[in-house]
Amino acid sequence: MLSNRLPLFNDSIHVSDKRVIVRVDFNVPAEQNKITDDYRILRTLPLLEQLRSRGARIMLLSHLTEKKEHRSFEPLMENFQQVCGFSIKFAPTPLAARQSKAPVTLLENLRAFPGEENKDPQFAKELALVGDLFINEAFSQSHRSNTSIVELPKLLPSYAGPLFYEEIRKLGEASSPEKPFLLILGGVKFATKIGVLEHFMEVADSIFIGGALANTFLVASGFSVGESPVEQDAVPHVRNAFIGKPNVMLPSDVRVEGNEVRSVSDIRTGDVIYDLGPVSSAALAEKLQEMRMILWNGPLGFVERGYNQATSELIDLLAHSKARVIIGGGDTLALIRKQGLEDSFYYLSTGGGAMLEFLAKGTLPGIDALLETRNSM
Ligand code: 3PG
Repeated sequence: MLSNRLPLFNDSIHVSDKRVIVRVDFNVPAEQNKITDDYRILRTLPLLEQLRSRGARIMLLSHLTEKKEHRSFEPLMENFQQVCGFSIKFAPTPLAARQSKAPVTLLENLRAFPGEENKDPQFAKELALVGDLFINEAFSQSHRSNTSIVELPKLLPSYAGPLFYEEIRKLGEASSPEKPFLLILGGVKFATKIGVLEHFMEVADSIFIGGALANTFLVASGFSVGESPVEQDAVPHVRNAFIGKPNVMLPSDVRVEGNEVRSVSDIRTGDVIYDLGPVSSAALAEKLQEMRMILWNGPLGFVERGYNQATSELIDLLAHSKARVIIGGGDTLALIRKQGLEDSFYYLSTGGGAMLEFLAKGTLPGIDALLETRNSM
């Protein structure tokens, strides 16, 4: 098993007075310098607490996704410290991190340095000088072949952190699932879902397609979706590979503006689909009762605009289902937390894109890098 081959960080590794680089995924949403979803940070705290209690000096590395303007960790530092419950020093450069004597230091957004995404060997050396050993606790970023993910394990003794390891073990279970097995895919971007769909086509007893992804499938089935976004380039492939397959379920009704319900055969020229309709939700609810394992990625509606009825109802149903339920993806996880149900599932993955790529390929660049590391301390 893959997880058994990973060098897992453990109690026998000497860390007292050592500088331990921990690659975390603190790529969290924030508004006006307030973190609006701290779930990923909370999931890394057990490792950070363990390192602190064992006398390590922690060097945190993370990226923050660039939107329009450059995003820095600096204005978020106060909030990070509140969430973590200990003080963290901000270091604007790798050199400043190297000179820091603080128990916990966080380097500036890695994407502020061109060398992170270019896999620049010089930048890798600068990062490696910050610590004595490396722990990857950023499963959700390990689908990116970035310097901090794939180059550091070549330069330092390197380990998988406990969260990283748990993600691989639990998602590995879903990869060859207990049957009957249901896959629910929503959200957008067919390109990020195709690998998972292909992997599970032969394996899943049922595959339910929702969210904006379903628009492309409905068009491929010959329905009109009005003004709803469609990935036209993907339509021929979807038609050939997935339409008419007995295990693929599509919505039979949807909600458009103002929450009006329409059958998929009655979508009008100006309509935009925002959510799944009640008949489709009921069909999905019935289907999931037969299942022993369920894997879900991507919301069923446009949740950022408040169209979360179908997604929230599904969360509620799955929370009370007897099946082993594994869920990933930021928007769905945020709703689960809002509903106070984060402890009601078999596993919640911190990965969005990383979860999908791992399920499709069975590995990630960050996993391969750890498998190739040669540890000697
Ligand atoms: C995520 O939020 O899924 C990860 O942090 C990856 O972020 P990225 O898509 O900007 O690499």
